[in-house]
Amino acid sequence: MIQSLRGMNDILSEDYERFEYFLSQASTIAKRYGFHYIETPLLEETSLFKRSVGESSDIVGKEMYQFTDKGDNDVCLRPEGTAGVVRAFVQHKLDKKGGIHRFYYHGPMFRYERPQKGRLREFHQFGVESFGVDSVYEDALMIMMIADILKALGIGYRLKLNSLGDQHCMPAYRQKLVSFIESCGDAICADCQRRKSTNPIRVLDCKNEHCQNLYVNAPKLIDNLCEGCQSDFDTLKTILEQHNIGYEIDTNLVRGLDYYSKTAFEFVSDNIGSQSAIAGGGRYDRLIEFLDGKPTPAVGFALGIERLMELIVMPESVREGYYLGAMDALALSPVLLAAEKIRRSDKAVVEYEPRSLKAHLKGADRINARYCAVIGENELAQNSIWVKDLVEKTESLIPLNDFFV
Ligand code: HAM
Repeated sequence: MIQSLRGMNDILSEDYERFEYFLSQASTIAKRYGFHYIETPLLEETSLFKRSVGESSDIVGKEMYQFTDKGDNDVCLRPEGTAGVVRAFVQHKLDKKGGIHRFYYHGPMFRYERPQKGRLREFHQFGVESFGVDSVYEDALMIMMIADILKALGIGYRLKLNSLGDQHCMPAYRQKLVSFIESCGDAICADCQRRKSTNPIRVLDCKNEHCQNLYVNAPKLIDNLCEGCQSDFDTLKTILEQHNIGYEIDTNLVRGLDYYSKTAFEFVSDNIGSQSAIAGGGRYDRLIEFLDGKPTPAVGFALGIERLMELIVMPESVREGYYLGAMDALALSPVLLAAEKIRRSDKAVVEYEPRSLKAHLKGADRINARYCAVIGENELAQNSIWVKDLVEKTESLIPLNDFFV
């Protein structure tokens, strides 16, 4: 039997109900915040991700589904959504137009990671990207939007916050950090030895316990911010406090993608095991110019839909639509006609097999229908359909000619 690939799951209808509920809640909230939907391709030129997510990142270094297509192009399945949205923004010259552009998107992303609970090779994100706002209020807006989405879904969280500095303060900090890492000599792991020259701040989120013990004494980013970054970070904290959004400062939160500067954040859940990050994002003011666009400030985030699935508190399901059935083979044809009329304004599910009334009532229950409508010998003789309202518990015999004309 052919099976789906490891780390790539089917979403069957029961789960899809949750999935769809999530999308409808998140999209409604994104629209309320003034964001517009954008769809970008799943497949992009590999160089897009190398230049944005960064060659030294694990995503680009180890996890891309990369191949050469029949036209000899080096392409890969998108590992994340930001790069494609920035590419589209620049390609369609929206950067030259100026002004504010706010997008939201959702869809599958692909990372060749070691699959485990909450970590898939094909997973789905809901993301937003905001271009053209240089104010830290937009960073706060991102966090407020995630908080609103999680609240609508009944999901609790912890918010981790950090500032990654900018081109004014980052270089000096990086130098300090490299000196510190060098002072650790051979005591650090091979990955950190490599990161020391490729992207030193990534050592801070090394998962090796021994390294982490050493890095307790490492210089901290937020003690080394320039005036502008410090003031933005203070403003962000004040806005969150005013909106009663709790946060923890996590000086080791560096994010796994290279494009961030200034604000970085992650929402985590304590109820889903080790892969606890349910959303992540931050500011990336330099990315648009790195991808050949006009320098434009930008900030965004993405939620991991699979990780949210088991946390979503679904609203109580309500009975809806019609279940229709025949009690006699001759009754099937008027049943189909009635169903066709109902579908102009409501849901109608037909059982083709002639069954007893009891069996049809069971069938209506199974699909959570509001109405059970059946035609048997008696109804045929009277050219009518028998309808039971399963909420109000009322029954009526309706002439077929009057039925939803
Ligand atoms: P990210 O932190 O790499 O950020 O991913 C965002 C979320 O996607 C994570 O918090 C997690 O919930 C989910 N996720 C990531 N990898 C997996 C996986 N292998 N299996 C299941 N879920 C996963 C980004 O992708 C950035 N593009 C976010 C962003 C948008 N920053 C600015 N704008």
